[in-house]
Amino acid sequence: MKSLEKLPKAKRVKIGKEANEIKNFLRIKFDQKAQEIKEKIKKEAEEKEWIDITAPGKKPILGHLHPLTQVKRKTEEIFQAMGFSVVEGPEIETEWYNFDALNIPPEHPARDLWDTFYLKDKLVLRTHTTPVDVRYMEKNNPPLRIITIGRVFRHEATDASHEVNFYQLDGLMVGKDVNVANFKAVIQEFFRRFFEKPVKIRLIPSFFPFVEPGFQVDMTCLNCEGKGCSVCSQTGWLEMMGAGMVHPNVFKNSGLNPKFWQGWAFGMGFDRLAMMKYKINDIRLFYSGDLRFLNQF
Ligand code: PHE
Repeated sequence: MKSLEKLPKAKRVKIGKEANEIKNFLRIKFDQKAQEIKEKIKKEAEEKEWIDITAPGKKPILGHLHPLTQVKRKTEEIFQAMGFSVVEGPEIETEWYNFDALNIPPEHPARDLWDTFYLKDKLVLRTHTTPVDVRYMEKNNPPLRIITIGRVFRHEATDASHEVNFYQLDGLMVGKDVNVANFKAVIQEFFRRFFEKPVKIRLIPSFFPFVEPGFQVDMTCLNCEGKGCSVCSQTGWLEMMGAGMVHPNVFKNSGLNPKFWQGWAFGMGFDRLAMMKYKINDIRLFYSGDLRFLNQF
């Protein structure tokens, strides 16, 4: 169109007219094509990008509490209803609280029962939750009733009933005249509420350096209700925990006078409790992170 100026006047009029006609013709064609493309894109989008508003929604996957946490909360609830406070202690413990304060001096063969991972500066990965009892008695005056549930560690090979890392439940009750009868009543009631079945317990003499006298506590087998079966090796009883009357040396090491105070303590494998409740046959399942297992709870 610009070059039209250079043409002689007679030609300019004729060619200018033709050029204008071509220009208008092309504009119309362009507009038509643009409209066509627009419509095509719209149509394609309508075909591809549709939503079926009648399709059922997708449920977002929600996590839930680990079975051990569920059992921990249940246990805490039962003991709290009986007047016990729930307390905690460190997982990395000093050798003093884990052993010495509990009347297990260095070189004492009992330390072999609780072999663990030794760290620098006389620190160990705690082998039981019993040191929490000492820590609590140092800071609180009797009468007292506590439980503690926490992670403990052992240096040992793993199998269906052993892990290097597991959980324990410890309990402690101290007062002027707290006795074994109180212990039996509390523990029997705990098991009854926990397993939602009436159970009997029995005490058998046993040894732990931090109690005197010490006992092993058995409970009627839940599987056969005491009749005898393969779960309880035909005895009708299941071994549940260690317990006893707090040793005078432990009171002394906690700053309490054993002439004034007495009480009982118990400790048990917490994973085992959960395994019995849900009939789980391998402790390692708790730590495997396997959804096929976890989704059942
Ligand atoms: N702490 C002991 C253990 O780990 C159990 C126990 C606790 C025994 C309290 C008696 C009293 O085996």
